[in-house]
Amino acid sequence: MAEFVVTPWEVKGEIDYEKLIDKFGTSPIDEALLKRIEKHTGELHALLRRKIFYSHRSLNWIVSEYEKGNRFVLYTGRGPSGHTHLGHLMPWIFTRWLQEKFDVRLIFQLTDDEKFLFNPDFSLEDTKKFSYENALDIIALGFDPEKTEIFLNTEYIKIQYRIALNVAKKITLSTAKAVFGFKNETNIGMIFFTSMQSAPCFLESERENRAVPVLIPCAIDQDPHFRITRDVAPSLGYPKPALIHCKFFPSLAGGDKMSASKPETSIYTVDNPKEARKKIMQAFTGGQESVELQRKVGGNPGVCSIYQYLYYFFEENDEKIKERYSACTSGAILCGECKKYLADRVEKFLIEHQKKREKAKELLEEFIVRD
Ligand code: TYM
Repeated sequence: MAEFVVTPWEVKGEIDYEKLIDKFGTSPIDEALLKRIEKHTGELHALLRRKIFYSHRSLNWIVSEYEKGNRFVLYTGRGPSGHTHLGHLMPWIFTRWLQEKFDVRLIFQLTDDEKFLFNPDFSLEDTKKFSYENALDIIALGFDPEKTEIFLNTEYIKIQYRIALNVAKKITLSTAKAVFGFKNETNIGMIFFTSMQSAPCFLESERENRAVPVLIPCAIDQDPHFRITRDVAPSLGYPKPALIHCKFFPSLAGGDKMSASKPETSIYTVDNPKEARKKIMQAFTGGQESVELQRKVGGNPGVCSIYQYLYYFFEENDEKIKERYSACTSGAILCGECKKYLADRVEKFLIEHQKKREKAKELLEEFIVRD
C-alpha cells in the first residue's frame, strides 16, 4: 500500500487509521471509555458507536475532571478557505451534541489569518468573507448562543496575541519544521501560525485565572498543532488540552477525504439540492460492471462512497445500515437504488440546513465576539 500523508494541510493516499494512532501517538477510544461517556450522556452518538470518532488524547482525564465538578470548555475551528462541505460539518455536529449533553461552553476559532497566509491567492478580505459564510453554517447547527462564541483571529486578537506570544516563544524552528515540514521558502507567518491555533486552548484559563480543562473535537489532521500545544502547556502553567479525533468523511470519488479543492466530488452546504443530487448519482460505488454480475457476486460496500455516506452521516439507524450492508454484499440491491436513497436524504438535509442558514444571518451578532 502506498504511504499515506496526513497533515493539517494535506491528506492523501489510503489512510490506515490504526497506523495513524501509532504514528501520532494518540489513543484509541475503547469500550471502557465509551461506557464512561455514556454514563453522562445517556446514549452514544452514532459517530461514537460507529468509531468514526475513534481516537483521543486525555479524554479520560476530561471525564474525571467533569465528575469532580470541573467542567471543561469545548474548542474547535475552521480555516475559512471556501464554503463549508459536509466533511466539515461532521465534527461540528458532534461538538454540538457534546455541548448539549455536557452543558458546556464552546469557543469557535475562524482562522482567517491562516488561510490568508497559506494561500497565495487569498486576500484578507477573501478570508474574512468566507469566515462569515462559514459562521452561518456553524450557527445553523443549533449551538447555544449563551454558551458559544465565534471569532475571526483578525477581529479578536488582543487576548489571543498575548497567549500566542507565550506559546511561540517555546517553539523552535526545528520543531515547526519537524512537525509541519516547513521549508526555507515557507513564509514566516505560516511558521508563527500554529501558536494562534494554540491560543484558544488557554483562553478560558487566562480569563478565569485558573486551570480550565479544554476538549477539542476535530478530524485527526489537526492533531499536529495540538501535539505542540500539549508539549508547551506545562511550562506555561496551563493544563494540556484534550482531544477527540474523527476519521475523514470521504469524497464522492471514494477513498480520499472530502476536500474543498474538489467541488465535483464534495457536497457543500450551499449547493443547490438538485445539483447535489446529480453529484451523488455520478458518485463512485462498490458495484460490479453489470447488473448480472452484481446480482451474482454482490457489491463491495467497503470501497463504496454511497455506503460510506450513509454509514458516516445519513443513516443513523444501526439495524438499517446493517441490512443495507448485507443487501449489497448479497446482490439483493443495486447501486442505483442506494444512490437514490442517499440522494433523497441529502436533498432533504440541504433544504433544511439552508433554511436554518438563512435564519442564522439574524443571529450572527449573538455569536460573534470582537475586540
Ligand atoms: P479546516 O477548515 O480544514 O477544517 C475544519 C474542521 O473540519 C475537519 N475536517 C473534516 N472532518 C471530517 N471529514 C473531512 N473530510 C474533513 N475535512 C476537514 C477538520 O479536522 C476541522 O476539525 N486550522 C483549522 C481551523 C482550526 C481548528 C481549530 C480546527 C482552528 N482552530 C481547532 C479544529 C480545532 C482548519 O483549517 O480546519
